[in-house]
Amino acid sequence: MNTLTIDIRKAEQGDAPAIAEVHNQAWRGAYSGIIPHRALNTMINRRGGDWWANAIRRAATILVVEIGGKVSGYATLGRNRARELAQQGEIYELYLLPECQGVGLGRRLFSAARQHLADFGFKGMVVWALEDNSSALSFYEGAGGRDVAEGVEIFDQKALKKVAFVWD
Ligand SMILES: CC(C)(COP(=O)(O)OP(=O)(O)OC[C@H]1O[C@@H](n2cnc3c(N)ncnc32)[C@H](O)[C@@H]1OP(=O)(O)O)[C@@H](O)C(=O)NCCC(=O)NCCS
Repeated sequence: MNTLTIDIRKAEQGDAPAIAEVHNQAWRGAYSGIIPHRALNTMINRRGGDWWANAIRRAATILVVEIGGKVSGYATLGRNRARELAQQGEIYELYLLPECQGVGLGRRLFSAARQHLADFGFKGMVVWALEDNSSALSFYEGAGGRDVAEGVEIFDQKALKKVAFVWD
């Protein structure tokens, strides 16, 4: 019988190329047809292995989910950046390889990220998602998030609405 181990841990330097690949595939899967093609390509190309190695080296908290030894998802988290929201923590990004979505890993990674923020002493948490990313909205609603604020992101002159979910 084959058993696949699932491990969630802090990212290490050697994870950088694998996280870059997850980022590439997950962003294309989530945002193709939503974010204009050129802007999406630029964002993905900017975040290669070197970019991630630098992010891991610096203070950013990055968690990875490993399935059978393969990095299949990541989350980045830290202090909430939106002054108008009282919650102190924020999950900046949470992404899984397309073939690893829909089997409960997102929920596990989300819980681990939330626990990390609580361990830092942050009270409450925010997550932003693009309004057109309906699966992310369903995911955060399912995880008990309250949809409390809206904002706008501009991508190559296309304005896209984003929604803030909070947990107290
Ligand atoms: C959003 C994402 C992190 C969710 O992780 P996941 O592993 O696919 O989700 P899970 O299997 O843990 O599902 C947890 C719950 O979320 C909801 N959910 C997840 N994907 C959904 C979808 N496509 N449509 C509707 N609901 C969904 C379900 O309610 C599910 O609850 P259930 O167990 O009762 O069915 C993941 O699909 C992903 O990486 N998507 C692409 C990138 C992205 O959009 N990231 C968020 C950017 S803000």
